[in-house]
Amino acid sequence: MNHLIDILQLSTQEIDELVEKAKDIIANPEAYAHKCDGKILATLFFEPSTRTRLSFESAMLSLGGKTLGFSSASSSSAAKGESVADTVRTVSCYADIIAMRHPKEGAPLVASMRSEVPVINAGDGGHNHPTQTLTDLLTINREKGRFNDLTVGFCGDLKFGRTVHSLISALSRYTGIKFVLVSPEELKLPSYVKNEVIKKNNIPYEQTTDLESVMPELDILYMTRVQRERFFNEEDYLRLKDSYILTPEKLKNAKQDLCIMHPLPRVNEISVAVDDDPRACYFKQVRNGRYIRMALIMKMLGIE
Ligand code: CP
Repeated sequence: MNHLIDILQLSTQEIDELVEKAKDIIANPEAYAHKCDGKILATLFFEPSTRTRLSFESAMLSLGGKTLGFSSASSSSAAKGESVADTVRTVSCYADIIAMRHPKEGAPLVASMRSEVPVINAGDGGHNHPTQTLTDLLTINREKGRFNDLTVGFCGDLKFGRTVHSLISALSRYTGIKFVLVSPEELKLPSYVKNEVIKKNNIPYEQTTDLESVMPELDILYMTRVQRERFFNEEDYLRLKDSYILTPEKLKNAKQDLCIMHPLPRVNEISVAVDDDPRACYFKQVRNGRYIRMALIMKMLGIE
């Protein structure tokens, strides 16, 4: 049985195949409309979500399957003290595949050890979010036509931003990548990601607090929300939350073919005035999320 807990469980060849499959689904959706007839996806979300949960459900419904699940811990027996292991063991009696989000790092890994069906990590604390990374990779492929030779800027909360950690891991396997890490001092990329991923793979990188100074060199700008739910005190959050607000003015020196990404939800970090810029790709990411999850569900269920 296969599970997806960390993006590095997929080889670059498997990622390429998923991206190509998603592109084929986009081109020929009717060919996939019954691929998962009779299959059930369970979405176990112990933490809030709009895109990930609904795109998983939309993906399974678009494949002809059905869905069940819960959208908060308080509406499951976790509220009575049931463990993740027992919850997953139970749900794997009702579903063929499980997508799980949890505020605790490692919870989906624990779940995968107890599940009788494949488990997909739909985000665990500040750790990983592999299906957002697949979404991001499909978006990069469709917008830039390649994964190599890209200067990728990450801006905002690089400490708690799990989508940043997963995407850095995935892109570190390609050639000609350079990372530009833009954050306040307190929200710098964790050293385990910097040392174990960036430095270990000899990826060139620079760290700065000044977004505008590095803007002209970027092919991709990946903005992130300051993750209020992971702060220990509200004062620090309030001080840091508006560290970076992308506006049309700040894009004046950016490349004409810059790809502006954001996993969403956004709070203040991208002005709505940027939404009409043709370089804004974050709602394209949302759309891509459904198709790449269709491709992933099929792969994990062994459906060709
Ligand atoms: N990108 C993302 O994970 O969004 P949700 O929190 O809405 O699922």
